[in-house]
Amino acid sequence: MARIINEPSRTFGEYLFDPNQKEGHYRPENVNLRTPLVKHRKREDPSLFLNIPLVSACMQAVSGPELASALARCGGLSFIFQSQSIEDQVAMIRRVKGSKAGFVVSTSNLRPENTITDVLELHEKTGHSTIPITHDGTGAGYLLGILTEHDWKFEENRGRPVSEVMTKIEDVIFGPAGISLHEANSLLKKYKKSCLPIIDNEGNLQSLVFWKDLMSHLDNPDELLDVEKRLVVGAGINTWDYQDRVPALIAAGADVLCVDSANGFTDHQKDVIRWIKREFGNSVKVGGGNVVSARGFKFLAGAGADFIKVGIGGGSICITREQKGIGKGQATALMEVVEARDEIFHRTGIYIPVCSDGAIVYPVHVAMALALGADFVMMGGWFARFREAPGRLIMDGGNYYKEYWGEATNKARNFSRYDVAPDKKGLFVFEEGVEGRVPFAGDLKDGVRDALAKIRATMCDCGALDIREFREEAVIQLASPLAIAEGGANVIVNKNIFSGK
Ligand code: IMP
Repeated sequence: MARIINEPSRTFGEYLFDPNQKEGHYRPENVNLRTPLVKHRKREDPSLFLNIPLVSACMQAVSGPELASALARCGGLSFIFQSQSIEDQVAMIRRVKGSKAGFVVSTSNLRPENTITDVLELHEKTGHSTIPITHDGTGAGYLLGILTEHDWKFEENRGRPVSEVMTKIEDVIFGPAGISLHEANSLLKKYKKSCLPIIDNEGNLQSLVFWKDLMSHLDNPDELLDVEKRLVVGAGINTWDYQDRVPALIAAGADVLCVDSANGFTDHQKDVIRWIKREFGNSVKVGGGNVVSARGFKFLAGAGADFIKVGIGGGSICITREQKGIGKGQATALMEVVEARDEIFHRTGIYIPVCSDGAIVYPVHVAMALALGADFVMMGGWFARFREAPGRLIMDGGNYYKEYWGEATNKARNFSRYDVAPDKKGLFVFEEGVEGRVPFAGDLKDGVRDALAKIRATMCDCGALDIREFREEAVIQLASPLAIAEGGANVIVNKNIFSGK
């Protein structure tokens, strides 16, 4: 007979926090949400961290380049979905890495003899409006002039060469190679320019510094940037084309990888992680998952995973539990895994961050996951609601929605995640996810700000100013279904609750 565990598995919404009075500066504005992203030794800093504990799921309906840039600006991270061709995923990574604050290597350049028609075509393709004109049309060529939107937008003669409308190099304010970003920004301010080209002693273009990036940084103090001041971005990978996909993603600038798999307790996943570590050493960071038990966690830790994702069957679009009966309540799964993580840490001094993936509906669930030991959470449906998510905006009955669909739906045709790799084609394939809509929630930045305000307030009420203190201080109690119901607005008729929790 199978081994039976009679204790039910639990999820976040079944627990409540006890408030904890503390003296002093326990106020939301003093809460620090910085959290490790990858494995590190005791008392050493991780090579990658997050400024806020939120990452977006490797899903077509969630993590495209627009959402990835918006989330990195808030201090979180996206994993660009792998259920697409390697070329398309690489192009998305490049787009995020290109939209950086700092020195941008120009990828939209033309020669002086190009025409306004060429400019319009280039703008259509890249979305860039500032176009350096170099002798050979490359981003490293001799700089002859700069074209801004003012020069080409209203030019009626489409055949006119750009050399006639550009600002010629004699009149261009530029910075010399080697200046700091601070100095470059000072020049932008002094000369009231929107773009500062940086050129070397020979007059060749090196990079561009943009005013809008300076403004964006002031607006987004938590922005997650790499050493070159580019936005940080992750990429999902699968267990069958990784030998081609991983090198391409790394070359494109992906900062961290994650094996995107419903069940990470498999030899396939171990092989992928080991292959990456053999080929690239420890310079390439890769997370594994998903697991729901201590055994699964230890297996991936042994394979060399840099972080490990927890959660099977709890995703809002997920029907794995219905279809296969596989899974575990998210809170219980997390507690089991965190205990194993902490045990390894005490024994070896190696800390492996844990990501709680799926089943987050409200910000209070994020707080609960953090208090239970997660270092960060991955969300799909929550992010799919925002304007920047790739799904279409739909109006129905006077309300706006965004499309959201699982990676294991026929729509996503994700041939890797749900074990339908090319070598398994021909087997009967069933769906483990659904398609639907989520209520539109406006701009990501506003939604994240709202969620963080609630998470910070919970942490303060529990007597914590950072995530580590939160885990140590939080007192959590299982509540009865009636106690949970009592906590909502009840008895009141015509409830008018706009909070959206
Ligand atoms: P959500 O945040 O509750 O919407 O869950 C998102 C998570 O669900 C993802 O990060 C994946 O782990 C998981 N997931 C994505 N697509 C599917 C699917 O089609 N079926 C089951 N789980 C999925």
